Amino acid sequence: MKKVPFIDLKRCYQVYKEELEKKVLEVLRSGIYLNGPQTKELENLLANYLGTSCAIGVSSGTEALYLILKALDLPQNTYVLVPSFTFVATAEVVMRAGLVPFFVDVEEDTYNISLESLKESYERLTKQRKKVSAVIAVSLFGLPAHLKEIQKFCKEKDIYLIEDICQAFGAKIANKKVGTFGIASATSFYPTKPLSTFGDAGMVFTSNKKIARTIRYLKEHGQIKPYFYKYHGVNGRIDEIHSAILLVKFKHFEKEIALRKTIVGKYIEGLKNLNPHLKLPYFPKDYFSSYSLFTIRAKNRNKLKKFLESRGIGTGIYYSKPLHLQPVYKNLNFRNVKLPITERLAKEVLSLPLHPYLTEEEINYVISSIRDFYKSK
Ligand SMILES: Cc1ncc(COP(=O)(O)O)c(C=O)c1O
Repeated sequence: MKKVPFIDLKRCYQVYKEELEKKVLEVLRSGIYLNGPQTKELENLLANYLGTSCAIGVSSGTEALYLILKALDLPQNTYVLVPSFTFVATAEVVMRAGLVPFFVDVEEDTYNISLESLKESYERLTKQRKKVSAVIAVSLFGLPAHLKEIQKFCKEKDIYLIEDICQAFGAKIANKKVGTFGIASATSFYPTKPLSTFGDAGMVFTSNKKIARTIRYLKEHGQIKPYFYKYHGVNGRIDEIHSAILLVKFKHFEKEIALRKTIVGKYIEGLKNLNPHLKLPYFPKDYFSSYSLFTIRAKNRNKLKKFLESRGIGTGIYYSKPLHLQPVYKNLNFRNVKLPITERLAKEVLSLPLHPYLTEEEINYVISSIRDFYKSK
């Protein structure tokens, strides 16, 4: 039986093995493992690539989001609007920062936060005299959220827009990169992300110098000079080995996005006339994805997943249980609130194997297996 893993991290390493090993060895031999030249170079390079004046390397995407909230110093117990259809970290950091997540529905075709639901949620909370202080917009699966419109809304209401670009580093709307629409943005370099390292790391991007400075202190335990602590901080640094790996990976990043795009194009071509069984992702005009995941909506999703597994094909479900229904958030009283699109997507979404080095044969095998499954329906 052939095997197509969902993401083949080992293969992605093998492609740049020599370059990576040389660079890691260089760091090991340098004796500098934190706050050194690799991190500085990476921060400058990525800030320049994205189009912000500051970038701060941190220990993960989660920590990046948390540090942004801490640096903004939002009034405690105020509300932060977040999509329910996202990775848990987006809401988890809100709680950790002493704020309250308020879950918003998403759009059926882009899977990203719905502007309509955002506006409704804001109105509902303000009618109840509850203060909303920020929105965290997630660009899910690599596709930009409607960031221009959300930015406009946040300006009108005088609330902060924070961008969670953990799945979408490199994506853009026309020529403007995601991560540059909000007051600050957070990305992740987790091993499965389009720009990734072999472990945990993340980065904050902002053009606000004051926020950048505060985050630099916060990620070092709140220390503003040796052993003098002005803030309640964390140990949130990126380390030199990860920065060095990312410098190598970044050289190939644009090429890898292009490879992902080609693979997605082949999936779409091969699966396009399977309506009404499948719904393929939608890419609005001028929205350029970084294609971190290729997620379809499938009838009989769980059976299809099992069938593909039986053929050696790995798939993923992002996300099978919406955040507003998770036990950890039961005190927020969302159990009886309906977020219909989020709840439907949770039952239908299935992510297919995707990484830049998937072969033609593997792609065709995935496509023909899906077609075989629906032939008998
Ligand atoms: C949307 C989203 N937000 C936040 C995170 C957190 O990033 P990390 O795993 O680097 O902490 C992730 C990572 O999976 C994510 O997908």
